Amino acid sequence: MNPSPKLKAFVFDAYGTVFDVHSVADLAEQFFPGQGKSLSQLWRAKQIEYMYLRTLMGRYIPHNENTESALVYACKALGLECDAARRAKLMQAYLRLTPYPEAVGALGALAAHKRAILSVGTKPMLTEMVAHAGMTQHFDKLISVDAVKVYKPHPATYQLVLDELGVARPEVGFVTSNYFDVAGAKAFGFTVFWINRNNALPDELGLLPDHVLTDLAGLKQFA
Ligand code: LAC
Repeated sequence: MNPSPKLKAFVFDAYGTVFDVHSVADLAEQFFPGQGKSLSQLWRAKQIEYMYLRTLMGRYIPHNENTESALVYACKALGLECDAARRAKLMQAYLRLTPYPEAVGALGALAAHKRAILSVGTKPMLTEMVAHAGMTQHFDKLISVDAVKVYKPHPATYQLVLDELGVARPEVGFVTSNYFDVAGAKAFGFTVFWINRNNALPDELGLLPDHVLTDLAGLKQFA
């Protein structure tokens, strides 16, 4: 039995949920032996912090630029010599992140529903990443916050899902591994699936997901 019969659409976060942001660590490790993992982690942390800061200051910039500024900071903070050529290669790697191994199967199991991505990435970033992974046919829409020039978890970003897919809030199953996105999507009124791969603690924001799964494969029971 479908435990959530009212869901018409499954909407996925991209970075960290369908695609592994730390797949850049291998290239980072080649450039900076012994520091690949640290660079990848600080890069991601700063990228998210800059999303919040730029949104709060009313100074949105597209996510490729936001991501590059976080990379520059992370390299400086770790004392790594990241020249223009290396920076370009790392940014290129960010456009071709590896999907989690169960992602394609999980999306296939949900094919009777509308399936979309809602991401902070720009349309060109998402289009290239999804195409490179051979997943284009699994998504009806790739929705970017670039249309509203604020980052998640601003409510205007989740509103894009309703506008683009023509569904109501309770009809959306929103899938994310990032807790700030869990909180934002739940506050907006979606049914939220938290992909908690690393047994993380929920943040104390007074907003809890409806379902917690260890990876995307568990979504098939809601198809
Ligand atoms: C995204 C970030 C939040 O894809 O992971 O929107």
